[in-house]
Amino acid sequence: MKHIISGKTKDVYELENGNYLLQFKDDVTGEDGVFDPGANTVGLTIEGAGKAGLSLTKFFFEKLKKKNIPTHYIDANIDEATMTVTPATVFGEGLEIICRFRAVGSFLRRYGKYVDEGQPLDAFVEVTLKDDERKDPPISKDALHMLGIATREEYDRLKRLTIDISQIVKEELAAKGIELYDIKLEFGRDANNQIVLIDEISGGNMRAYKDGIYMEPLELTKIMLES
Ligand SMILES: Nc1ncnc2c1ncn2[C@@H]1O[C@H](COP(=O)(O)OP(=O)(O)OP(=O)(O)O)[C@@H](O)[C@H]1O
Ligand SMILES: [Mg+2]
Repeated sequence: MKHIISGKTKDVYELENGNYLLQFKDDVTGEDGVFDPGANTVGLTIEGAGKAGLSLTKFFFEKLKKKNIPTHYIDANIDEATMTVTPATVFGEGLEIICRFRAVGSFLRRYGKYVDEGQPLDAFVEVTLKDDERKDPPISKDALHMLGIATREEYDRLKRLTIDISQIVKEELAAKGIELYDIKLEFGRDANNQIVLIDEISGGNMRAYKDGIYMEPLELTKIMLES
């Protein structure tokens, strides 16, 4: 197994058959010991966070597969906290595509002059660059094209897929009485240059609320996976 990269919450390895293995860690993003899905630093370690993130990721990726949404998912081993995936090439050095249903987080920080906290948003899509040093700046369709990061056609496809996937996640949460406020997705190009959803879909990359109260990832996982 060849080590490819270590991120904040996962280690990535290449398997002998060319597939990638994602090892989920118990590290979660946040600051000063407080969890924050929008943070760019590892804020704390929570025992069981890796397995929980993987369990929820497996749940959503299997739902997406049934709906014919292209993803990198192959299979998952919860005991080992590992997921086998198809390797993909990211756009530039990586993008995050955010879908917003309510105004919170960085959207509220940026546009607070014009929106109220928690104001409903209609599956509003934003793209940000994965660039910790520059605090993940938002980037437009024109800038993505101009800088050679993604074509205009790719942008349109990314936006469509993001809305479809986020809507599916929103409905799954709603079935458990939970409301999705926002979610952050990652995409890449596979060996056939097709755009596929990569990375994870867990409590670590969304904000979910129950009865107006924010749900921590572990609690969200528990409620989503109990039958
Ligand atoms: N199928 C895939 N092919 C190639 N790279 C992938 C694939 N799935 C995920 N990755 C990449 O693996 C890394 C996962 O690590 P991790 O999520 O810990 O990193 P991070 O993005 O630095 O942290 P964070 O998401 O907390 O900001 C990311 O760089 C992600 O883009
Ligand atoms: Mg990540």
